[in-house]
This record gives sequence, C-alpha cells and structure tokens, in this order.
Amino acid sequence: MEFFEVLKERHSIRAYKAQDIEEEKINAILNAANSAPSAGNLQAYKIYKVVNREKKSKLVWAAFGQSFIEKAPLCLVFCAHPQRSAQKYGRRGVELYSIQDATIAATFAHLTATALGLGSVFVGAFNEKEVKKALSLPRELKPIIILPVGYIDEIPYSSPRKSLNELVVEID
Ligand SMILES: Cc1cc2nc3c(=O)[nH]c(=O)nc-3n(C[C@H](O)[C@H](O)[C@H](O)COP(=O)(O)O)c2cc1C
Repeated sequence: MEFFEVLKERHSIRAYKAQDIEEEKINAILNAANSAPSAGNLQAYKIYKVVNREKKSKLVWAAFGQSFIEKAPLCLVFCAHPQRSAQKYGRRGVELYSIQDATIAATFAHLTATALGLGSVFVGAFNEKEVKKALSLPRELKPIIILPVGYIDEIPYSSPRKSLNELVVEID
C-alpha cells in the first residue's frame, strides 16, 4: 500500500475476526517497530507479544474491561525501559525519551498493520500495575501502549479532525 494511502486507511479498529495472523505479517510488524527512530538509537523499550488467551483476558481486566483486546489474535504491549535511556540522558531519558521511543515504535507497528490489511488500535487506558502483573513484567519496564492486532471485522470510519488553522501556529 502506498504511504499516503496507509495514512488515509489507518483507523482505530476494535473488532477482529477469529483468524490467525500469518507469521510473515507478524514479523513485518515487529521489524517495522524495530526500524523506528529512538533517542540516541538506544531503543529504550521492549515489545511483549501476547497470544495466550488467559493473558489477553488479564489485559482486558487491566484495561478496565476493554473486551476487544481479548478478541484480537495478537496483542503487542510496548513498554518503556526508562533506565536504559537514563544511562545517557538522565531524567529526560526517564521522563520523556523512553516513553517516546516506545510510542514511536508502537506507531510504526500500527501503520504497518494497516499496510498489511490488518486493524489495530492504541490502548492507553489501563492500570499500569495490573498490566505489569498480568504479564509478569520486570520491575524496570513501564507499559505504555497495548496494541491489539487482527483482521478487521467492522466498517472502519474516519474520526473528525481539527482544521490545520486550529492546530498550526505560524511564527514569523
Ligand atoms: C495515546 C492513545 C491512547 C488511546 N487509548 C485508547 C483506549 O484505551 N481505548 C480505545 O478504544 N482507543 C484508544 N485510543 C484510540 C483513540 O481513541 C483514537 O485514535 C481516536 O479516537 C482517533 O480515531 P482514529 O485513530 O480512528 O483516527 C488511544 C489513542 C492514543 C493515541
């Protein structure tokens, strides 16, 4: 799919078919995440690949009952590794760069899913402690985004956007 078409076709998708995702597609999504830029190229994040039904159902609980998470054949959980970034960037690494690294990687994954004919959605509304418990995450990781991925089982729609006039401030 051409890049601008991917942008146009990208929507948050919250209904998925009970159809497995081909391994090549999963690898393409993970490789796209791995190709994302990161502060100092430190890649201060980890990606947890969750397919286990029980674990996914724990993620639903952690995400305040967002049940579509469980229906996705694949859930990618992007976690920041603040200390990795702190080694070079101190507080800015902890508070900003590691979060940005994880988020940008998740964005690359989200867009790649679209390009491959799959649907996904950023899930940020969750209890961090419960996600850590559900996946037995090491202490040093901070979950940032849950990205359920699957074949689309809804009619995608475009959400409204602000006009560029509202969004962009031109400075002389
Ligand atoms: C940081 C972030 C957190 C989000 N968290 C959730 C969430 O917890 N649950 C959900 O259904 N959608 C979530 N979304 C998706 C947004 O609702 C969605 O991107 C927005 O409504 C625009 O729709 P679109 O992505 O289809 O253009 C999140 C998006 C972002 C960027």
